[in-house]
Amino acid sequence: MEIELTNVTKTIKGADVLKNITYTFRGGCIYGVSGKNGCGKTMLMRIIAGLIYPSSGEIRINGKRLGKDISFPESIGLLIENPAFLPDYTGYENLKLLAKVQGGLSDADIRGVLQEVGLDPEDKRKFYKYSLGMRQRLGIAAAVMGRPQIILLDEPINAIDADGVEEIRGIIRGLIHEDRIILIACHDKEEMDYMADIVIPMSEGRILSETEEKG
Ligand SMILES: Nc1ncnc2c1ncn2[C@@H]1O[C@H](COP(=O)(O)OP(=O)(O)OP(=O)(O)O)[C@@H](O)[C@H]1O
Ligand SMILES: [Mg+2]
Repeated sequence: MEIELTNVTKTIKGADVLKNITYTFRGGCIYGVSGKNGCGKTMLMRIIAGLIYPSSGEIRINGKRLGKDISFPESIGLLIENPAFLPDYTGYENLKLLAKVQGGLSDADIRGVLQEVGLDPEDKRKFYKYSLGMRQRLGIAAAVMGRPQIILLDEPINAIDADGVEEIRGIIRGLIHEDRIILIACHDKEEMDYMADIVIPMSEGRILSETEEKG
């Protein structure tokens, strides 16, 4: 499993939101992107997910060029900003709908993934009554339930309480697999140092080199 970015630049309305990024991600560990608000963490995730395409440079996923050989990565799960679910359905019903689209998931799988993220599969509350932390947990469940090869989690511990943070860290660690790339973003550098095996510091759309980071 490999994601290779070569000289990737994204320009939006004259501003370079990603600047000449060259980086190779490989399966088997957790990558963590850290940096201040607005440094480009979410943009990096969007571009890897094929939600936006580079203005210049290229992205290859297992050798296939994104936007050319493939429109989207073939196996991906993502949580980016506020997860969108149907308000009048329960958590279970929402995942069930997504599972229908993805295929290959049993009801037991859905109950299992809900339990994994600390939600009760029997909870009859509809999504609109969910707290922020519950919404975030359901978002993580949706991102990981299809056991995708690429998992992108943007600020996964946003709005999660202290006990929950421990739980979520454990869940993310449990996802590590040599054929899977896990990329998380967090503006809290300390948290990122703790959660990620490899920290990627970003600033103003660029990935900083080790010397720049320390200097
Ligand atoms: N739709 C958009 N149109 C134009 N510029 C945008 C758009 N979305 C984001 N940007 C700009 O792109 C840059 C990177 O934004 P991005 O959302 O990737 O930052 P971030 O590192 O995820 O920040 P945060 O920690 O606040 O989530 C910022 O300068 C932002 O203003
Ligand atoms: Mg962001």
